[in-house]
Amino acid sequence: MDEARVKKEFLLLGLTCFAALAPLQAAAQDRKIEQAIKHRKAAFTLMATYVSRMVQTVEGHRPFDAKLMAQDAKTLELLTRLPWEGFVEGSERGETRAKADIWLEDDKFKRYGIDLQAVSAAVTVAAESGNLQRFKAAVSQMREVCNACHKAFRKD
Ligand code: HEC
Repeated sequence: MDEARVKKEFLLLGLTCFAALAPLQAAAQDRKIEQAIKHRKAAFTLMATYVSRMVQTVEGHRPFDAKLMAQDAKTLELLTRLPWEGFVEGSERGETRAKADIWLEDDKFKRYGIDLQAVSAAVTVAAESGNLQRFKAAVSQMREVCNACHKAFRKD
């Protein structure tokens, strides 16, 4: 076999392998995106569980148990660190309400995420103070951040 022919066959072999692997790679990528979307939704759902207990408290449907609220706020603080890694490239498509703007206005989106961590920490401090008025104010500020980000970056 002459050298040119060998080269050509290698090239063809390479192309065939690539063509065979491309769909597999695409499927793996789709799975990764699907998992990322599930991850962030799960984190938000858990956050909402703790927030709803706080809201019931500030609205007077539950007695103000400062110790429990401080515990919940600490859990919320932890949860606020979780959704963001799920916003991977390409995950504006699929089973999601995330707007594509998240990837276009990355800084603004991240800012809301950082704000959320700060206001959640403030809720913990307020709950620990045992002062219901302070707790109400902190919860209200925290919810404003949830809502502002949803308004900007979540589809209705
Ligand atoms: C930095 C922006 C941002 C902040 C802050 C934020 N969210 Fe969200 N949230 C989103 C986005 C984007 C989605 C859509 C996720 C998706 O569908 O992939 C979402 C979805 C949700 C969902 C629906 C989850 C599901 O299963 O579809 C709930 C519930 C939720 N958020 C609650 C909250 C609560 C409660 C807070 C405040 C404590 C909060 N979020 C703060 C951006 C944010």
